[in-house]
Amino acid sequence: MNTRVVASGRVDDEAQYEAGLRPRSLGEYIGQDRVRDNLEVSIAAARGRGEALDHVLLYGPPGLGKTTLAYVIGNEMGVAVRATAGPVIEKPGDLAAMLTNLQPHEILFIDEIHRMAPNIEEILYPAMEDYELDIVIGQGPSARSVKVPLPKFTLVGATTRAGLLTGPLRARFGIVHRLDFYEERDIEEIVRRSARILGVPIEESAGREIARRARGTPRIANRLLRRVRDYAQVRADGTVTADVARAALELLEVDDQGFDEVDRKLLRTIIDKFGGGPVGVNSLAAAISEERDAIEDIYEPFLIQAGFLDRTPRGRVATARAYQYFGLDAPGRDSRLW
Ligand SMILES: Nc1ncnc2c1ncn2[C@@H]1O[C@H](COP(=O)(O)OP(=O)(O)OP(=O)(O)O)[C@@H](O)[C@H]1O
Ligand SMILES: [Mg+2]
Repeated sequence: MNTRVVASGRVDDEAQYEAGLRPRSLGEYIGQDRVRDNLEVSIAAARGRGEALDHVLLYGPPGLGKTTLAYVIGNEMGVAVRATAGPVIEKPGDLAAMLTNLQPHEILFIDEIHRMAPNIEEILYPAMEDYELDIVIGQGPSARSVKVPLPKFTLVGATTRAGLLTGPLRARFGIVHRLDFYEERDIEEIVRRSARILGVPIEESAGREIARRARGTPRIANRLLRRVRDYAQVRADGTVTADVARAALELLEVDDQGFDEVDRKLLRTIIDKFGGGPVGVNSLAAAISEERDAIEDIYEPFLIQAGFLDRTPRGRVATARAYQYFGLDAPGRDSRLW
């Protein structure tokens, strides 16, 4: 998400790079075994009955493969995927047009589905439940509502924040899956696969080195691979060895934990400015000049899962592990816990 703020040329570049590395079938999709197994069953069942797949909600931190999975589902169902995103649907009519243009069993993919306007979201309720549109014609006392039938379709929604979805919308998804950070060995496999596709010679230990620092996130793994490939090409003979990988990652200031500058700043600020916390996310955002959404969507989930940050009702707290990371003694509060 970070990259969206930089010059558009680079975003296009990266988007293209990502698209080229996207798995197209469930068989190619690495990791997330539980989600994959479940989808395999749901898809086979729907196909067997000759029906549209039930509506699917995919949620989890950025870069874990939600968009990828939406297209994989399309391929596995053998239908087209029409894609849009919550914030770009401006009028109810825009969504109504997309819905009425769908062919039977096709997929409407709505990314960032938590960011739809309420009056647009309401259109989805009858569309998802009864496959019809409720359209109001005219105004005032003469206004009447007409029902327009829709083909049986599948809505695939993706969001980084399932908590921001309204109850009625969430309740209309028959299949709901949370994507989690990947195991390191899955990321390793993803790095190997991407290197193969890109034709980058890479040593096994180098793949492991990249995987270890990719925060359990395929997008980051692929991004690091790209940077390391550049380094190998310019400063070595093109082969990504463990030494080349380490040198390149060091130059990028990605450390052993996969932390970047913002992660370090975030933890350091909680420790130095807020006595280790608890500190509210708004104060934290202001202190490090990052957007609250970026903290909650991108940085925090990984820091929490890696055990460096705790989310308490009173705010964010740096854990003993965070202190250790900076070579500091954790305050008494933590030692009393032990
Ligand atoms: N299971 C996987 N196996 C291999 N590569 C993957 C997998 N999941 C994701 N990727 C790679 O990671 C990149 C990012 O995935 P994707 O765009 O689907 O993430 P996302 O969850 O939609 O992120 P965002 O929340 O930012 O939209 C893709 O380009 C794809 O190449
Ligand atoms: Mg996406």
